[in-house]
Amino acid sequence: MVCNVVIEFAPLEDELGDVLDKAMRHACCTEQTLATRSGVAAEKIHDAIDYRYELTHDELRRLASALKLNEPGLLALAQNRYPLPEISGLPFCLYPLRTPHGIGVANAYIVAECGQSSGILFDSGADYAQIERVWPKRIRKLDAIFITHAETEHVGGLAGLQRTLGRVPVFFPEGICISDTNVTAMDIGGGFAMGEGARLRFGAFEVRALKTPGHAEAHNSYIVSAPALPDATQMLVSGDILFAGSAGRGFFCTQTFADSLRRIFTELPGKTVVAPGHGPLTTLEHERLHNPFSC
Ligand SMILES: [Fe+2]
Repeated sequence: MVCNVVIEFAPLEDELGDVLDKAMRHACCTEQTLATRSGVAAEKIHDAIDYRYELTHDELRRLASALKLNEPGLLALAQNRYPLPEISGLPFCLYPLRTPHGIGVANAYIVAECGQSSGILFDSGADYAQIERVWPKRIRKLDAIFITHAETEHVGGLAGLQRTLGRVPVFFPEGICISDTNVTAMDIGGGFAMGEGARLRFGAFEVRALKTPGHAEAHNSYIVSAPALPDATQMLVSGDILFAGSAGRGFFCTQTFADSLRRIFTELPGKTVVAPGHGPLTTLEHERLHNPFSC
């Protein structure tokens, strides 16, 4: 059975200034060197990164060219008109759990067979109290929790979930380091590291790990599919690698991050639904067309 998706409005994670800032870092480029390359005044670039936009279309085109960004996508962001696709055709019910963290919003996702009261969870939000507020009443049991990477905004709710739901097996990237979070070894005890290509079955679903380092040294994305329905849409939980209209930051290594992002853009089918760690759902073919970082 192909189910409808539960969708709510979610704003984009990034606006023009964030995208320019990230692109400059990825290109190891200062405001001055970008000004020289693009012919756009360094002051205007500085103001744009500071969310004060006075860039003309021609200047945006020159910045896109100098930073090797997708020009239509950058222009759409600058006009607050970045398009989003309709999401449909997933062979399961999807519950996006969006919780505030600092000035932003972090996403977690429950995947469940429609009508069932158990499911699997991807990431756990910044803290349990926030996750509890948006928890779907129907879901009373988790079969597994998958972690994309160990930042508090993505794993902070783990201890509370374990206390409330009983011990749930936790699966995480190889080499994960939880020392900078509020998670303890006990919260992930009984769990397993998933390396590249590792697969797990939960009822009708299969979860496959893609090793996507760069934002963090240990970072997995997960492909969720229904093997009995090979033509059904699959979903990519992309963590902090790919967002609708933007991408994460290469905190661990910008080159490794770029390799992971390119891999996602090139290896997966276009109709793959992307469920990112921040911002709204999208599809891969949509982001190939519009995302500033798709070039
Ligand atoms: Fe994040």
